[in-house]
Amino acid sequence: MINDKNQYILAIETSCDETAVAIIKNGREMVTNQVASQVESHKRFGGVVPEIASRHHIEQITITLEEALMDAQLSMDDIDAVAVTEGPGLVGALLIGVNAAKAIAFAHQKPLIGIHHIAGHIYANRLIEEFQFPLLSLVVSGGHTELILMREHGNFEIIGETRDDAAGEAYDKVAKTLGLPYPGGPHIDRLAHEGEANIDFPRAWLEPDSFDFSFSGLKTAVLNTLHNGKQKGITYAQQDIAASFQDSVLDVLVSKTVKAARKHNVKQLLVAGGVAANKGLRNRLQNEFTNTDVQLVIPPLSLCTDNAAMIGAAASVAFEQGHYAGWELNANPSLSLEKYAKRSK
Ligand code: KG4
Ligand code: ZN
Repeated sequence: MINDKNQYILAIETSCDETAVAIIKNGREMVTNQVASQVESHKRFGGVVPEIASRHHIEQITITLEEALMDAQLSMDDIDAVAVTEGPGLVGALLIGVNAAKAIAFAHQKPLIGIHHIAGHIYANRLIEEFQFPLLSLVVSGGHTELILMREHGNFEIIGETRDDAAGEAYDKVAKTLGLPYPGGPHIDRLAHEGEANIDFPRAWLEPDSFDFSFSGLKTAVLNTLHNGKQKGITYAQQDIAASFQDSVLDVLVSKTVKAARKHNVKQLLVAGGVAANKGLRNRLQNEFTNTDVQLVIPPLSLCTDNAAMIGAAASVAFEQGHYAGWELNANPSLSLEKYAKRSK
């Protein structure tokens, strides 16, 4: 056992297809960050199969927990609290993490903390840079596309969100149509840099003052273009479809983000979620925010996709604020961020 006054949080994330365990020291330092990915098992189905995800989590969770403690050279005596993603996500997958966290916390008599998955994605940024409020976070993942305003720790106000598909979901669906492997986002990103944005796909701006997004029309437009082209004997280069699609997504994402950052006079723009790995998005945001009063923070790729370090970073603040969960903590597949934020007040 380490005899120091540092705070150590053991964090677990199993909401989708990664079994992840991390230990975070004093909210901002990653002592260990273990991720057992199942992506290879889901690839042949073209998406995550919930039943398979749950089975993998069961197989991996104990091993990943042991690996994390071993890698950190810590024992459970050193841990101050056990944190876990309670939602949103796949219910069967979440249940494995929640029950593992409850069991280990109960056995070692440690406080238990339930964390919202998106709060976690946002707090991944605090492992890179201390937060300065007010801040804006662009959350872009396979299940989420949201602009979230934070005025203080634990406070999340959704000022814009997708009305249909998430950005990552649109990437994955377009990729599938192009015959690219799952997950398709990185493939589209790569091809987009090799092609030309010479096809005019729609941009869903919605109402003038709205920070909401919509990507399902764009996805349909790509499908229709390919379908109509086939009937007319026109073949489009995959690279050009990818470049044109990406241009349309990024035009809307970046311009609404810039507008929202200005409107709310934020000090920082944090980017979160799997799509934050997108090179085009990173470049455009860098162009927009370099030499402005807004500090742009984008985590490294390993902290953009699902991981448990982000859950530990969010839990550190919850721990300091005394927001513990009871033993009745359950997986909540549709937990809303605003409901979670209210609870944390
Ligand atoms: O955050 P994440 O790992 O899982 C969810 O919580 O959804 O995000 C996964 C999503 C997938 O849709 C994947 O295609 C997308 O992030 N993604 C990308 C890139 N890398 C991952 N999308 C566009 N460009 C990328 N480079
Ligand atoms: Zn995620």
